[in-house]
Amino acid sequence: MDKGDNYEVKDISLAKQGQMNLEIAESNMGALMKVRERFAKELPFKGIRIGLALHVTKETGILVRTLITGGAEVAITGCNPLSTQDDIAASLAEEGVNIWAYKGETNDDYYRYLKNVIEFRPEITIDDGCDLVSEIHKNYEDLIPEIIGGCEETTTGIIRLRAMEKDNALKYPIIAVNDNKTKHLVDNYYGTGQSTVDGIIRATNILFSGKTVVVIGYGDCGKGFALRSKGLGANVIVTEVDNFCALQAAYDGFRVMKMEDAAALGDIFCTLTGNKHVIRTEHINKMKDGAILANSGHFDIEIDVKGLREMSSSERRVRPFLDEYIVNGKKIFLCGEGRLVNLAAAEGHPSEVMSTSFCGQSLACEYLVKNRGNMKNEVILLPEEIDDNISGLQLDAMKICIDELTPEQIEYLNSWQEGT
Ligand SMILES: NC(=O)c1ccc[n+]([C@@H]2O[C@H](COP(=O)([O-])OP(=O)(O)OC[C@H]3O[C@@H](n4cnc5c(N)ncnc54)[C@H](O)[C@@H]3O)[C@@H](O)[C@H]2O)c1
Repeated sequence: MDKGDNYEVKDISLAKQGQMNLEIAESNMGALMKVRERFAKELPFKGIRIGLALHVTKETGILVRTLITGGAEVAITGCNPLSTQDDIAASLAEEGVNIWAYKGETNDDYYRYLKNVIEFRPEITIDDGCDLVSEIHKNYEDLIPEIIGGCEETTTGIIRLRAMEKDNALKYPIIAVNDNKTKHLVDNYYGTGQSTVDGIIRATNILFSGKTVVVIGYGDCGKGFALRSKGLGANVIVTEVDNFCALQAAYDGFRVMKMEDAAALGDIFCTLTGNKHVIRTEHINKMKDGAILANSGHFDIEIDVKGLREMSSSERRVRPFLDEYIVNGKKIFLCGEGRLVNLAAAEGHPSEVMSTSFCGQSLACEYLVKNRGNMKNEVILLPEEIDDNISGLQLDAMKICIDELTPEQIEYLNSWQEGT
């Protein structure tokens, strides 16, 4: 491990490679660059400390630079032990950012680094999965009065925050960036759809065409992954616990069934639920020889990996992000140790996707500062016009122009008198 006053990273000599990756990311993040240009003039975060626990990827590096351009002091760590890109961590360290992160963190290091970010005394927290907020509430309540608010990136984090809100345990306001329309559409649906396929392919190099892919959970992430798998020629089966989502999967043309029935049919299984143990040992017992298991939900709880380990007679790493378990003489493969496969075995979402997500984070931070002291300790949605502005910024970046309502149309839409 390389250590300095402002960092702990795997290998500082990777900084040059990181700079090149950051350059490529920047060129694909036009919408966020527009926000950065404005921040450079307006300095909305002048003197404000922002603490982040996000996947340390090249796109997050561009968000960090955007916040710093806006005047912020920043400290960052990862939000998952397997998702840090070590070249990016090295680059940010060399740029002087306070950063503690490496790919393959131990549990102790993961929490030690979170502690470093908390001891930086952030006035705004940016989380992906709610670990930072949770640690602050559990162990650093005395710091809470200084905190303006926080932003949360993912569905699992929002679920935890809403549980805190319900228990009256939430002590500062949090913006649910995840719940922006733009975030759900571009990140969870298109982004996770593509990058989950990417992660499974990089881990296994398997051909999707002709395979039976079992998609567990048909929320936004599951829908995106099912669509991309179908596009690659796979036969898709969906399992769900929600009537409405199951109905949509059926009407989208997928077979919908119970997991106990899908278990014997699938070649590739992917969990995208945010829920615990949706693949259990009784399912694994029924699987075919060669079945591949992956998770793209936030935490590594969706597949019962401990159960898999206990039921298998042997275990070995056959490729960098692929473990083979022998269960009743059959091979069962697990991608990325059951951690979110698109970040563990690939690079997460493409930069263009994260551009819209991180426009959401940057504008949410600006909203927190502008509304300081006037927000309740609740999970808050960003106003629709900010979300709409993000769509506009992304359309501009894609050089797409759209029509405007004519005065006659505006009048028509605001009136009730005119009928057939
Ligand atoms: N990999 C990534 O880059 C990435 C990106 C965004 C979100 N996420 C994570 O992915 C997960 C899903 O996010 P989402 O936005 O799609 O959430 P969502 O709430 O829209 O969808 C989850 C779906 O899973 C279903 N489900 C729950 N338990 C189930 C079970 N036992 N069996 C079958 N289905 C079940 C729910 O009914 C729901 O329809 C979350 O953990 C989220 O944080 C990951």
